[in-house]
Amino acid sequence: MEGDGKSDTLIESLPKAELHVHLEGTLEPESMLAFAERNRISIPYDDVDDIRRAYEFEDLSSFLDVYYAGMSVLATEQDFYDLTWSYLTRAAMENIVHVEPFFDPQAHLSRGVPFGVVLAGILLALEDAEADFGITYRLIMCFLRDQPADEALHVLETARLYGHRISGVGLDSAEAGFPPGPFASVFAQAASLGLHRVAHAGEEGPASYITDALDLLGAERIDHGVRCLEDPVLVDRLVREQVPLTVCPLSNVKLRVFDSLAEHPLRRMLEAGLLVTVNSDDPAYFGGYLCENYRAMHASGGLTREDVITLAKNSFRASFLPDEEKLAHIQHVEEVAAAQR
Ligand code: HPA
Ligand code: ZN
Repeated sequence: MEGDGKSDTLIESLPKAELHVHLEGTLEPESMLAFAERNRISIPYDDVDDIRRAYEFEDLSSFLDVYYAGMSVLATEQDFYDLTWSYLTRAAMENIVHVEPFFDPQAHLSRGVPFGVVLAGILLALEDAEADFGITYRLIMCFLRDQPADEALHVLETARLYGHRISGVGLDSAEAGFPPGPFASVFAQAASLGLHRVAHAGEEGPASYITDALDLLGAERIDHGVRCLEDPVLVDRLVREQVPLTVCPLSNVKLRVFDSLAEHPLRRMLEAGLLVTVNSDDPAYFGGYLCENYRAMHASGGLTREDVITLAKNSFRASFLPDEEKLAHIQHVEEVAAAQR
């Protein structure tokens, strides 16, 4: 199936939420060069083409090497503001009306950039985008699962000093060999502070990491989760409990979780009754923002128009918005879809 103009218009015009995007993964090569220059930080690239040539990944860890190296140019509150603002202006153009983005404080603290600097830049941009574009947000702070759980606890304690500006905690970075278990007490502490809990699981790690994220971390939503398909009992549970899975098709192909979009199981997951959503993960690195993920899946035959509408509704169902706001957004999706039938 080829992409067609009518479906592309539908994809763009539907109101959508994005629930799995790493702000550091929205760092475009042009900004990387500009931030490197203004902060006098040297990077191993001469120009944009040079940077893009480095974006060929074998797997998650080969991507993470480039991702952490890239973010070394982020140093000031202005950098974090500009990074976040660029993503949000793009989101507004794509009719994304609600975002629940991630950031990785440890990846900045380890370079000597204070937590408050990172948070202030990100929050100011989120507030400005809410005022200018009406985009609502819930900010999620991720812990690096390949670093000690004690470090995560320390970050959580630091975050407490900033009150209720952070809505939830997540778990990301290298997955295989880094099960959720060691983070159980940090997540329990986060829960006691009233924070939402999500975790990357079942991207490169086994299906059992999804079960652990639910049972040991109390995760309310699973990021990626595609490897649940290897465990039918787990799939039954995820369907029964309607645990949201934030799937990222272009990311999965770039990181070789699946060989091609044609082989991506998104449609099968929808048909199985799983509460799946489409997301961009690290769009600057994976070749497309949210609409491009929908478009590419539709063009490769992996999504019908009805699936696109379902996924837009799911993005709100799976969000941390209050029920009445979810319902209002879902109704708006239905109105926009009906106008294009
Ligand atoms: N997986 C795990 N950690 C990450 C990712 C991802 O896709 N992107 C940024 N950090
Ligand atoms: Zn991710």
